[in-house]
Amino acid sequence: LGYFTFDPGFMATASCESAITFIDGDKGILRYRGYPIEQLAENSNYIEVCYLLLYGELPTQSECDKFAASITHHTMLHEAMRRFVGAFRHDAHPMAIMVGVVGALAAFYGDASNVHDPAVRELAAHRLIAKMPTIAAWSYKHSIGEPFVYPDNNLGFAANFLHMMFSVPSEKYVPDPRIVKALDLILILHADHEQNASTSTVRLTGSSEASPFAAISAGIGSLWGPSHGGANEAVIRMLEDIVHSGNPVQHYVDRAKDKDDRYRLMGFGHRVYKNYDPRARIISKACYEVLETLGEGNEYQQLLDTAMELERIALKDDYFKARNLYPNVDFYSGIILRAIGIPLNMFTVIFAMARVVGWLSHWMEMMGDPNARISRPRQLYTGYDEREYVGLDKRS
Ligand code: CMC
Repeated sequence: LGYFTFDPGFMATASCESAITFIDGDKGILRYRGYPIEQLAENSNYIEVCYLLLYGELPTQSECDKFAASITHHTMLHEAMRRFVGAFRHDAHPMAIMVGVVGALAAFYGDASNVHDPAVRELAAHRLIAKMPTIAAWSYKHSIGEPFVYPDNNLGFAANFLHMMFSVPSEKYVPDPRIVKALDLILILHADHEQNASTSTVRLTGSSEASPFAAISAGIGSLWGPSHGGANEAVIRMLEDIVHSGNPVQHYVDRAKDKDDRYRLMGFGHRVYKNYDPRARIISKACYEVLETLGEGNEYQQLLDTAMELERIALKDDYFKARNLYPNVDFYSGIILRAIGIPLNMFTVIFAMARVVGWLSHWMEMMGDPNARISRPRQLYTGYDEREYVGLDKRS
């Protein structure tokens, strides 16, 4: 291989240096800028976490107010963008709409192409963080044929998103504060996760000095798949399937172990965590609280009970033990989203809305690094050796 190594799936390659997020997968540790995720989940809020990830420090009160005001200021989408969202097929997947709309923002903010100017980078980052909830909620409104709801800048980040999702012209949606807090927690827990597939995609795309809107659009595309951000949607499909089938949970655990069956327990296993994902621990606790808010006998309790039984059986099973397969963040987050009233096809969209700050933090870190170079992986060539061209009339 000469001077490079063969590492499919980047199992053992550090693609960059980064000071943003630390993970120790064996011990189950996650920290943003040095702060344990448990402390941020307990004491912080999404806007503060955004500031921390982007700028490296927790904000003072005045820094936080200024940042929140800037994000609020940029929540609106250009009216032409509204028509653009409205032009998609009614049954388009909201992730497909999001990939397209975020990419199209590059056409609206051509000035963002000047990626060497830190002020331009910062403005693009604020615009993206602010506009993602609007794009997300409008993609949903479009899919159900309801009028788009404009942002209400008197509301906080999570509350404003719920307002744009669920308000209708005749009635403003006013969520229980505990529901708003649960959504804010989900946003915090999904805000960054170092060099995962989508973040690496953003870095790779951005390394050619492309527009940040194009780079983030590429990241959204990467997040979409069921092995990455699409897993939260797949978990709920799996749990609902188990509940409706009437089969015992053990049956699904056995299927996941069967190497002739492609079936996997969704929300289980992680490339980096070989221990309990710390985000899953936090979110399972929040799950109880949200279901308590909804009161006795709600339909999601059965999903939570099934998830807990699945976890109990799998964690005792030699197959899962030998491979260090534990629940990941997506195992419980979907139950909360479902209980909040978020439809399944919006789960990954919400993941993207939360993760955009992580993608942008990595993009800003890379663009600010004077030693950064265009990413250019090599390959292990397995094709033909040199051969002679054959004319069309001589091919069989
Ligand atoms: N159910 C059953 N077996 C599994 C599972 C699972 N969920 N996950 C991994 N395995 C087995 C796999 O078959 C393999 O077995 P063997 O060694 O006998 O061939 C072994 O465990 C290692 O798996 P891998 O696929 O080589 O591991 P990976 O690091 O390439 O994949 C993963 C990690 C997350 C893609 C995988 O665990 C998976 O598909 N999990 C289900 C999907 C999921 O929950 N994804 C969300 C990830 S967290 C959110 C995010 O970061 O986006």
